[in-house]
Amino acid sequence: MALFIGVDIGGTKVLATAVSSSGRVLRTARRTTPGRRVEARLVEDALTEAVEEIAGSRRVRAIGIAAAGFVDAQGERVRFAPHLPWRDEGVRARLSERWSAPVVLDNDANCAARAELTYGAVGAAGDALVVTMGTGIGGALVLEGAVHRGYNGMAGEFGHMQVVPDGRPCECGGNGCWEQYSSGNALVRLTRDRLGREPSLLDATAGDPERITGPMVTEAAAAGDPVALAAFASVGEWLGIGLANLVAAFDPEIVVVGGGLSGAGDLLLEPARVAMRASLVGAAHRTVPPVVRAALGPEAGAIGAADLARQTFRLGGSRA
Ligand code: BGC
Ligand code: NA
Ligand code: ZN
Repeated sequence: MALFIGVDIGGTKVLATAVSSSGRVLRTARRTTPGRRVEARLVEDALTEAVEEIAGSRRVRAIGIAAAGFVDAQGERVRFAPHLPWRDEGVRARLSERWSAPVVLDNDANCAARAELTYGAVGAAGDALVVTMGTGIGGALVLEGAVHRGYNGMAGEFGHMQVVPDGRPCECGGNGCWEQYSSGNALVRLTRDRLGREPSLLDATAGDPERITGPMVTEAAAAGDPVALAAFASVGEWLGIGLANLVAAFDPEIVVVGGGLSGAGDLLLEPARVAMRASLVGAAHRTVPPVVRAALGPEAGAIGAADLARQTFRLGGSRA
């Protein structure tokens, strides 16, 4: 059976998956993302290791890459990536050559939206918003049943909408971007800032607050820790405010929230729903879209990338 691999490269980790034709994840391999100020080669080495672990000695039919960055309209180059070292690089051809296999490339959140559209929470909804909450915020716009890519291929960069003029500096070079207030990075930062000022279950690590990670904050919040809960309340509220603006612009039927942080479920989504409704124009005079968790969770990006590879290469040897 022909093997299709999807690999998701985010600001924190690399996840490679073998995916069945029904979108089921058969195997996974993980690596840590080497950083954003390293040589691009190191990131590509981590991707290669994860892909090789999945492939083993099997023949690979095609590989899809879901990249946390701005992918051009042709799916050839990563033009820019705030959390990765790629700057205008021909990632698709380079990795295809390195891996001796056909490769397709798209933005990570676009891939997640594709998976949620084909196998997950978007389902039959024609118009949907998908946001992924990880290191940053990924975004995708589903219009009339397809992911809208825009003129440059860069539609859906919601994480870098400015929500606070002269606000916090962002890895993209701008200031006050939405993902500085609502993301895994924001959650960890807010938690670190409060530690030492209020008692917390996370005090055990307070000797080195640098060790705190998103999953640790989620666990503490689920156990009722006030510092972790306050961080979720803030990140959730900012999520809702940004979503209200997107809903005002695009009037979707459903809003799907994925990425690592969506594992926190209602800890994140409930404050987001409340804030979204409170800031949405004409909320009393419209159907306010449900805000739901991604059905495929943090694997959505990799599943969507594998699906893109399958749809592109399943028939013949050339691209469809
Ligand atoms: C990047 C996006 C990416 C998102 C999630 C953002 O900072 O600009 O391209 O989709 O992070 O990884
Ligand atoms: Na996108
Ligand atoms: Zn930014």
